[in-house]
Amino acid sequence: MARLDELQLNDPQTLYRLWEDSQWSPFSIDLSLDERQWGSMAGEEQQLIHFVLSSLMVAEERITTKFSGLLGAYGTEEEATFLATQQVDEARHMQFYARFQDEVIAEPEAIADHVERARAHVSDGFREIFDERLVDAHQRLIAEPASLAAKVRFVTLYHLVLEATLGLTSFKFTTDYLSRAELLPGFVDGYARIHHDETRHIGYGMWFLRETVRAHGDMADVVREILRELLPSVAASLSPPARGSATDFDAIGASAEQIRAFALGGLTRRLDIIGVPLGTL
Ligand SMILES: [Fe+2]
Ligand SMILES: [Fe+2]
Repeated sequence: MARLDELQLNDPQTLYRLWEDSQWSPFSIDLSLDERQWGSMAGEEQQLIHFVLSSLMVAEERITTKFSGLLGAYGTEEEATFLATQQVDEARHMQFYARFQDEVIAEPEAIADHVERARAHVSDGFREIFDERLVDAHQRLIAEPASLAAKVRFVTLYHLVLEATLGLTSFKFTTDYLSRAELLPGFVDGYARIHHDETRHIGYGMWFLRETVRAHGDMADVVREILRELLPSVAASLSPPARGSATDFDAIGASAEQIRAFALGGLTRRLDIIGVPLGTL
């Protein structure tokens, strides 16, 4: 069996070529059945899904508008090219969630209005990660685009924690539940395309962090430091906002323990590949 740290990872040029072959439009997904189902969904079920959709709407706005600093910190032209595609992808994801709000959940409004309304439904852990940690790491990178430590901090937070650890976990449990319940097929279709884009973004993050840690051993400490800072809020944001409420995760057929185990398992595997095992944190 190949050692994890020898695993072949796609470089930015390969990821860029994959992007060229993976185009889709947030406006060509059929949401007509979703619209009919939403109106007839039971209160508790609707509330739970509304909580997930709100988190995704807010997250994708942050992820889109707090990214450009990484483009300014590119190494090679190939990396700059890949990062330009990720910026487009994130904007496309935000457009899809906004369209879902326009046509299924609420009345057509500007994206900022949807985000503001959705903000009332997200948890404190979520707010800390997206409104404080992400904003701060992005600000630091814009202030110091040539700082390798600032770039490593940002990619660890954005690609490894937000996209891989939180994003993949939310995708798995949300789409498992909706597919099983045969609910919101248009949303599941769009979310699956978003997920496909996200695997490329995570691929970039893994590539960047492994190459950087190999070339600059001291950067492993930067990865460790930010993870130590973030893990408590990651755990909090994977917990439902109130036990026993309509937004209790048990309602989606998975326990909080299962959700945390999935997230931690993925993070552990990725840290092994990057060369900063979780045990060394
Ligand atoms: Fe995204
Ligand atoms: Fe992404």
